[in-house]
Amino acid sequence: MLQSHLFLLYIVLLAMGNCLSSFAPDLSKKTEVLPIGTMFKLPSPLPHWPQGEGFASGNINLGGLEVCQISTFTKIWATKEGGPDNLGATFFEPSSVPAGFSLLGYYSQPNDKPLFGWVLVAKNVSGDDNSNEALKMPLDYTLVLSSESLNIKQDGNGYIWLPIAPDGYRAVGHVVTNSSGKPSLDKVRCVRSDLTDSCERDAFVWGNNTTRINIYGLRPTIRGTEAPGVCVGTFIVQVDGDTSSFALSCLKNKDMSLSYMPNLAQIEALVQSYSPIIYLHPDEQYLPSSVSWLFNNGALLYKKGGESNPIPIDPLGSNLPQGGSNDGQYWLDLPIDKNFKEKVKKGDLQTSEAYLHIKPMFGATFTDIAIWVFYPFNGAAKAKIKLIDIPLGKIGEHVGDWEHLTLRISNFNGELWKVYFSEHSNGTWVNASELEFVNGSNKLVSYSSLHGHASYSKPGLVLQGNTSLGIGLRNDMAKSKLIMDTGTRIVIVSADYLGTIIAPLWLNYAREWGPKISYDIGKELQKVERFLPGPLKKELERIVKGIPNEVLGEEGPTGPKMKNNWSGDEV
Ligand SMILES: *[C@@H]1O[C@H](CO)[C@@H](O)[C@H](O)[C@H]1NC(C)=O
Ligand SMILES: *[C@@H]1O[C@H](CO)[C@@H](O)[C@H](O)[C@H]1NC(C)=O
Ligand SMILES: *[C@@H]1O[C@H](CO)[C@@H](O)[C@H](O)[C@H]1NC(C)=O
Ligand SMILES: *[C@@H]1O[C@H](CO)[C@@H](O)[C@H](O)[C@H]1NC(C)=O
Ligand SMILES: *[C@@H]1O[C@H](CO)[C@@H](O)[C@H](O)[C@H]1NC(C)=O
Ligand SMILES: *[C@@H]1O[C@H](CO)[C@@H](O)[C@H](O)[C@H]1NC(C)=O
Ligand SMILES: *[C@@H]1O[C@H](CO)[C@@H](O)[C@H](O)[C@H]1NC(C)=O
Ligand SMILES: *[C@@H]1O[C@H](CO)[C@@H](O)[C@H](O)[C@H]1NC(C)=O
Ligand SMILES: *[C@@H]1O[C@H](CO)[C@@H](O)[C@H](O)[C@H]1NC(C)=O
Repeated sequence: MLQSHLFLLYIVLLAMGNCLSSFAPDLSKKTEVLPIGTMFKLPSPLPHWPQGEGFASGNINLGGLEVCQISTFTKIWATKEGGPDNLGATFFEPSSVPAGFSLLGYYSQPNDKPLFGWVLVAKNVSGDDNSNEALKMPLDYTLVLSSESLNIKQDGNGYIWLPIAPDGYRAVGHVVTNSSGKPSLDKVRCVRSDLTDSCERDAFVWGNNTTRINIYGLRPTIRGTEAPGVCVGTFIVQVDGDTSSFALSCLKNKDMSLSYMPNLAQIEALVQSYSPIIYLHPDEQYLPSSVSWLFNNGALLYKKGGESNPIPIDPLGSNLPQGGSNDGQYWLDLPIDKNFKEKVKKGDLQTSEAYLHIKPMFGATFTDIAIWVFYPFNGAAKAKIKLIDIPLGKIGEHVGDWEHLTLRISNFNGELWKVYFSEHSNGTWVNASELEFVNGSNKLVSYSSLHGHASYSKPGLVLQGNTSLGIGLRNDMAKSKLIMDTGTRIVIVSADYLGTIIAPLWLNYAREWGPKISYDIGKELQKVERFLPGPLKKELERIVKGIPNEVLGEEGPTGPKMKNNWSGDEV
């Protein structure tokens, strides 16, 4: 019934389409105080972290260079247009710098967010003689942006300078002034080249499409558990098309000392502080469970060629093949008995556990805590075409679903900086300043999408597909009584730098946690498409075909350790 009315409704909706835009908020009535006018603070003060070596001690020695993180600023200049949301950006000089430390560069942020940022300042600690010291004053500055000629809405005029580094040194940040004179040479320091690493542009901060000048954040080009590149928190001015030279560098942790990483007691305190509450959708039928619950409830190990003789998996997973690669020789599946299978599909929230992987990031100046959650079953996907929902038959269904969130925490002070929400082989970083927190605590809220269990920072509907056409797969998130508190049952499955964690045996199982597809996607699509007009049919097909196999259900997913990002950065 629903589907036979689809075409008619489609026509009606097309007719409505044009008026929908008039519902957009009127941005011309801007309020005076921009979001950046407020400074973000976590809802609760940070606890006193348990004693340890270097974690949260304020300073980090990068091997010849001591750095600390500054988030107190003096405003120098602001633009009032351009940049994300066309609200402009503000430029800041770090202030309250501890004695002996020098500035490396200034901070800038779009005005559409509360002030929430930091930059590093540095002090040389090596015993090197004066001619080879870690930090040196620039020789001069080049003016890379003057707002005088830009004819934009702004607070005064702004001038952005690039320090010219002495031979063998690199600049790691810009200087900003609000008068046209050159900054004094002792305003910032350049860093000896062997203490720097290459960097690339990160998020868009500000730009002007007419003049082709754009400003971006910076991050190390090579990122991962073993990459020494350290993020300085500064920004870069780039003139479009000019990719020939990258004027700034990041820092490098030359010793790659891991002594600033949290110890076990500190990890536990971090988890107590920040561990997310995951809201499952009120209609969710397929809940998480612990891995051992799955093994205890009849999960089977299949071997290629021996399909008729699957073997039960023991509670610890000790009869799973270890190591190797995902060669299609083995896979897991739910119990064969139909009733039993249906029961296992539903999971068991009471037993669900958070599997933690703790790893160094940005030259061990940050700690990533990846929080993995296991769901025995991933339910079918639903498409949305304009206002109509279309169940996609079996498309999207698969056995075994591994999902994760990653907390990125500063090793300078233990403060949560941002969180990665993984969404169907992709994901989004969300700043701590944009998270939802639980009842005044620093525990964050995450939403697990209906059936697909992708992680989102907000409730509501996210369409994955062609949003301008209003066609895509539905991701529905909402609060409910189904809550997984990831802080209550934690298992640290990996923290290589501690050297004391014994990985569960299932972590080294390299094959798939579910069988390959057992239905015909083409046929499933045909069932749905019969009722769609031609162009929509094509678009739906394109969207469904564009989904990774692992999500589509063609292949069972591999475990956390086999994912690309085990030792790398997230997307
Ligand atoms: C100009 O910069 C100085 C610091 O150099 C700062 O104290 C002053 O407030 C700035 N002016 C404006 C309008 O932001
Ligand atoms: C700049 O151009 C892009 C498209 O090229 C547009 O999306 C963006 O809104 C423009 N930004 C401003 C500030 O006009
Ligand atoms: C937060 O993160 C986004 C990208 O993930 C970035 O574009 C934005 O400017 C950031 N906001 C703040 C306040 O840092
Ligand atoms: C760097 O440190 C060395 C030794 O601690 C000291 O002699 C030198 O003056 C310092 N240089 C600067 C620029 O602070
Ligand atoms: C960009 O710069 C041009 C030329 O100075 C100016 O006319 C325009 O208003 C600026 N636009 C924005 C969005 O800043
Ligand atoms: C992991 O990182 C790689 C790049 O290193 C990226 O292509 C991939 O999409 C990421 N995967 C996930 C699940 O975030
Ligand atoms: C991942 O998500 C980002 C933004 O959320 C999007 O721009 C990008 O195209 C997505 N990548 C894939 C492979 O879907
Ligand atoms: C937050 O507080 C309210 C009211 O005290 C309570 O009903 C709710 O369960 C709390 N939420 C969580 C996730 O603890
Ligand atoms: C959405 O579909 C339209 C029309 O087919 C196409 O022009 C556009 O590129 C598509 N957008 C995306 C994001 O795929």
